[in-house]
Amino acid sequence: MKRIQDMEISGKRVFVRVDFNVPLDDVRNIRDDTRIRGVLPTLRYALDHQAKLIVASHLGRPKGTVVPEMSLAPVANRLGELLGQTVRMAEDCVGPDVERLVSEMKPGEVILLENLRFHPEEQKNEDAFAKNLARLCDGYVNDAFAVSHRVNASVDAMVRHTPLSGAGFLLQKELDYFKKAMAAPQRPLVAIVGGAKVSGKLGALENMLRHVDKLIIGGAMANTFLKSAGCSVGKSKIEDDRMDTAKTIMEKAAEKGIPFYLPVDAVVAERFEPDAQIKKVPVQEVPPDWMILDIGPATSLLYAEALYDAKTIIWNGPLGAFEMDAFSRGTLAMVRNVADSYALTIVGGGDTDVAVRKAGEAERISYMSTGGGAFLALMEGKTLPGVAALNDADKG
Ligand code: 3PG
Repeated sequence: MKRIQDMEISGKRVFVRVDFNVPLDDVRNIRDDTRIRGVLPTLRYALDHQAKLIVASHLGRPKGTVVPEMSLAPVANRLGELLGQTVRMAEDCVGPDVERLVSEMKPGEVILLENLRFHPEEQKNEDAFAKNLARLCDGYVNDAFAVSHRVNASVDAMVRHTPLSGAGFLLQKELDYFKKAMAAPQRPLVAIVGGAKVSGKLGALENMLRHVDKLIIGGAMANTFLKSAGCSVGKSKIEDDRMDTAKTIMEKAAEKGIPFYLPVDAVVAERFEPDAQIKKVPVQEVPPDWMILDIGPATSLLYAEALYDAKTIIWNGPLGAFEMDAFSRGTLAMVRNVADSYALTIVGGGDTDVAVRKAGEAERISYMSTGGGAFLALMEGKTLPGVAALNDADKG
C-alpha cells in the first residue's frame, strides 16, 4: 500500500477522505474533536507540500438526502481553528460549482466538501459518483480509518478512478498499532471483549481465540455465557438464540487451553434506573427478578489479576451499563487497570472510548483507536475494504 509520503503531491489537487463523523450537541457545537485532531498530521503534511487540499467526510446517517443538521459547516470552523487558516466550506461534494471552487484554489489552501452522504450514491458505492469525486483531484488519500470498513464510493470506487492514491498518517498508525498487537505481539496477549451482544462480537471472539493467551468477557454479552454455563441470570438481558454459540466458544477456548474469564459476581438491580436498589451477588445467586448490570468487585479483582503479566492488551466493549453511575464501577476499574499496566494497550470502539475518557485515562493508554465498526472488523480478522482498495491500486 502506498503512503502519502510516497506520493508526489506538491502543487497538486489532493483529495483527503477523513472521518469527521463527530458528536454534535443540540446547538451543533462539536462535543469531541478527537477525530478532527487525529488527521491534522496528514492535512498539515499536504499543506506543507503546497497541495491544494480538498477534505471530504460523512457526518451521521442522512440516508442520501440533504439534512441541514448534518452539514459539516461546524467542522469547517473547528478545522480552520486547528489548522490556523481559513477552511472554505463547499455547498456540495460534487458538481460544477464545486469543480469551479476547486479550479480557483491556490497551493496551500483548504476546502471542506459538504457531507458525502447527502448523496445516496456514496453508500451505494456508485461508480459515476466516484468518478465525479475523482474529477476534483489529481491524488487521493485515505485517512478515514473509522469508515474504511464501509464499501462506500469515497472509500472504495473512487480509488479506481484516481491515478495516484495512498494512506494518510492516521490510517497508517491505526493499522500499525493493530498489527503490533495481533500479528507479532509481545506475549501474553490478553483481549477484553465486552458490550451488549454476543451476536455482534461473534466474529471477533472467534478470531481472538486464534491469537490471544487469555480472553476476558464482560458486559451484557457475559450473561449469555453465564447462562449457557448453567447460572440462572434472573431477568438479565440474554440472547437465547446464542446460547449454543456461547458454549461452543467456551469449548474452543478450553480445547486450546486459553483461560476464558467470566464474571464471578455482579452488580444487580430490579430496574435499569439510576435510583434503583442495587446489590452485589455471586453470579450463582442472581435473584429471579433482578438483572445483571455490571461486573462485581470480586470480578474486578480477578480481571486485574488476569492482566498482571500481560505484555499486550486489546480492549473493545464496556463491562457494564457504565452510562449510569451506579453501574460504571466495573468498567472504570478496568480502565484504570489497563492504564496502569506496563503492556502495550490498545482500546477501540465508541463506548469503550467514552469510558476511557470519562475516567480521564486516555493519555495513559498506548493507543486509542478512532474506529468503532472498523476496529471491530480488524478484531474479526477482516481486511478493511478501504485498505484493500489502496492495496489493489498499488498492485496496479
Ligand atoms: C463511525 O462513526 O463508526 C464511522 O464514521 C462509520 O459510521 P457508520 O456506522 O454510520 O457507517
